[in-house]
Amino acid sequence: MGEEVKRCKGEEMKRRRGEEVQRCRGDRHTDSRPLTPGPRPLVEELLACYGSPLYVYDADTLRATIDRISRSVPYPGTSFHFACVTNGNLALLRIFQERGWGLHANTPGDAFLGLRAGFDPARIVYSGSNLNSDDLLQMIAWRVGAFNLDSIRQLKLFCEIYSGDPSSAPRIGLRLNLPEVTGENRIGVSVDEFEEAARIGARRGLKVTGIHFYRGTGTNATAAFTDSIAEVLRCAAGLPDLQYLDFGGGFGYAYRRDRGVFDWEMFGEELSRQVSALDRRLDLLIEPGRAVIAGCGTLIARVVAVKWQGDKQIAGLDTSVANIAVLSVHGGHREVSALKEAPGELFTTDVCGNTTFSRDYLSRGARLPALEEGDAIAIHDVGAYGYSMSSHFLHRPRPAEVLIEGDRHRLIRRRESFETLIESQTEL
Ligand SMILES: Cc1ncc(COP(=O)(O)O)c(C=O)c1O
Repeated sequence: MGEEVKRCKGEEMKRRRGEEVQRCRGDRHTDSRPLTPGPRPLVEELLACYGSPLYVYDADTLRATIDRISRSVPYPGTSFHFACVTNGNLALLRIFQERGWGLHANTPGDAFLGLRAGFDPARIVYSGSNLNSDDLLQMIAWRVGAFNLDSIRQLKLFCEIYSGDPSSAPRIGLRLNLPEVTGENRIGVSVDEFEEAARIGARRGLKVTGIHFYRGTGTNATAAFTDSIAEVLRCAAGLPDLQYLDFGGGFGYAYRRDRGVFDWEMFGEELSRQVSALDRRLDLLIEPGRAVIAGCGTLIARVVAVKWQGDKQIAGLDTSVANIAVLSVHGGHREVSALKEAPGELFTTDVCGNTTFSRDYLSRGARLPALEEGDAIAIHDVGAYGYSMSSHFLHRPRPAEVLIEGDRHRLIRRRESFETLIESQTEL
């Protein structure tokens, strides 16, 4: 299939866009969004164009979410940095860039993707763990704008290998270890280590100016964040040269639509209020990952076999948990829907992958209509930690990725072939 842009059929798009408007309004406490990627004819069109299984992203949904999150923190010195650990597709990264966001890099690979997507390196913030000297040298050479370091040892290493002029050095921060807030946590340094950190930096003419705090991943309880702000600010005040505060990621996404949603407005207002009340003006950095991108992605696949065990339907798809590893690795839940013309009665259904791996379940106990071979199934909210965590486990090539933008769709990553499975092997 070529990579040209394809125009979606008009009526379907109008309906689909109407649904998106509803989705963006989102309730603060429960989430009544319809599911992407929209009506069945569009899904059939995509499958006909690009094959199955297929990751589909909706740019309008992504832009609306980015804009909503951007507006939620009124503090004037705020910048957002998309955590591309969740999704490294360059076409999507460019949407963040276009919306004025920077990038959060967990690894040099993340920074590389950001650079390839066209981000200004000064707007790439590294907050990670355990870089070796080659990693550090590489990211310094790329002129990454800020390094939030995980330990005193990493800070020493940075100071040893940084050979540039201190006046043009990247920003240096420390990741904060706060077990009384997060529970036991391997990441970061304690407040007691701040003075030593400042001395280490000073010996090289460098100032340690930032504190980075990561609350923990996938938290929908807004209070878990708002309740930690005062303590983070109190600790940060102990850093002599404090200039910026990076309030990490970990903001939740409501994968179960009947449960609570992270309240960006409440969080943003409270964070802004408390940071504004400080006796100095800080820059505020925020690194959302799943919260901003989960909802724009859907994995669509076809039913290849159906059987019944008593009243329970077992639907086998042409995809597997290797294409969306998070479900078997972390036991996560994703809404699943069947795109059928006339759904009729619903049955308890286990949706399974096309391997005999014992955990190859894409959904358990879903309520779906009686399925037939060839039906299209949508696995929703897989924009984060979906393709980025897919693997060659079970030796199935990875799916293609497609972006819907307005009334057009285009291929943004080619489907892999069996050849992909051996391309880096040396004894062919
Ligand atoms: C430092 C940091 N910031 C942001 C993120 C993004 O996390 P989430 O997707 O939970 O928002 C991560 C995830 O690994 C991270 O380690």
